[in-house]
Amino acid sequence: MAAVSESSRRCVIWFGKPGEREKVMLAADGWQIRAVLPQQSADIGMRGGDTVVGLIDFRTSSESELERIGRFTAEHQHMPLFAITPAISTAPLPCHPLLAACRQQFPHPPDLNGLLRELQALDAVPSPAAGEVLQTLLGQSDVMLNMRATLRKYAPVDLPVLITGETGTGKEVAAHALHQLSTRADRPFQAINCGAIPSTLVQSELFGHERGAFTGATSRRQGLFETAHTGTVFLDEVGDLPLDAQTSLLRVLQEGTIERVGSNQALRVNVRILAATHVDLEQAVEQGRFRRDLYYRLNVLRLSMPPLRKRGGDVDLLAHHFLRSFRGHHQIRARGYSSAARQAMERFNWPGNVRELLNRVQRAAITAEGELISCADLELSPAGTALEGSQLDSARIHAERETLLSCLQQSQFNVSACARLMRVSRVTIYRLCRKHQLTLDSLR
Ligand SMILES: Nc1ncnc2c1ncn2[C@@H]1O[C@H](COP(=O)(O)OP(=O)(O)O)[C@@H](O)[C@H]1O
Ligand SMILES: [Mg+2]
Repeated sequence: MAAVSESSRRCVIWFGKPGEREKVMLAADGWQIRAVLPQQSADIGMRGGDTVVGLIDFRTSSESELERIGRFTAEHQHMPLFAITPAISTAPLPCHPLLAACRQQFPHPPDLNGLLRELQALDAVPSPAAGEVLQTLLGQSDVMLNMRATLRKYAPVDLPVLITGETGTGKEVAAHALHQLSTRADRPFQAINCGAIPSTLVQSELFGHERGAFTGATSRRQGLFETAHTGTVFLDEVGDLPLDAQTSLLRVLQEGTIERVGSNQALRVNVRILAATHVDLEQAVEQGRFRRDLYYRLNVLRLSMPPLRKRGGDVDLLAHHFLRSFRGHHQIRARGYSSAARQAMERFNWPGNVRELLNRVQRAAITAEGELISCADLELSPAGTALEGSQLDSARIHAERETLLSCLQQSQFNVSACARLMRVSRVTIYRLCRKHQLTLDSLR
């Protein structure tokens, strides 16, 4: 993927007062907002390559204010203008020559996604890659929009980023995105899980070794930092790094050099270091398990991934996204979720975060009997607690019985119609009826 130039700025001059949601949504897409309130001077310090657009809020601008904006925009003829107008139902559309100069009007409340699409199209440095990259970190909650805005700011800065967050919150995805949105995007990206390598091998994995450096070192080997030269190194679970490796890492950060195990020759490496941790590094520092100086070096820029339970409607959005993409690759019956299942997902506290949601959705998609995934398929109770063991078995049996009964009712207890509805054979319907002690004759 080509490097995405983020050095040029994208700026919206908002004549009026943007709302909080408007601010975070634009920021997540990399737009700076310059709000120009009445009586403020609208001075745009623009550089070549910047994309600057004007957005006139006709909801709040007085006649005299519009006049002032008109004078300003006349001086900046090249600046594309957009309008936010009052809701058509609540007020007559303002009639103003300035409105005619606007490319498009967005009646209040504005369709922000539509607005963002229009802005994107005007971008002086189109960066479809940026949009694409951030598609891997879905979510429309304010916390996620803020996180994406921060990520965009950090990506082009050639400094370490410490990514914190519970397991499964997308730390690794964020590290990838930081790399792909950086000027190093077409250079190597090397990731390693510091907790997954035996402590005796860590130094050699990271920094390489010379032939004969230790028993079994039959040839010279490059380490992760050497293979990542000119690119990015991602140190996952950096808190698990043994103390001797921490010292070597500090040296990379301070001097930009490494030494292979068994050699005392310093080699120069140019890498950007991204690190992630799910443990509290401050605490590890207090307990002497993590070097304080290394902590300060890694923690220059900090990106914190919010837990899924704090992302509001994103749970539903992600659940549908994961089901849709699973359907794209597998022949499954499930097309959506029962309302109880959606509520249970909303209530559940997701200790494993997005990874757990993905796993539950995929498992449910395979086991679901009907078109709608139930709580039991997700292994959740309607109250939003995890079901295990015998609880789970009885919930599954209950859900199966409910699905069968509702399909039988819908098909007026006609076995063939019910079988078609459930997309199973007639034999299966008879078997399920016997299993759940439903006598068709007595139900009809
Ligand atoms: N916001 C998100 N949108 C879509 N998928 C996500 C999101 N966050 C995480 N994932 C997916 O969840 C899984 C766990 O993400 P990962 O980055 O490995 O988490 P962590 O490193 O924090 O444990 C991956 O399959 C990843 O693709
Ligand atoms: Mg991880």
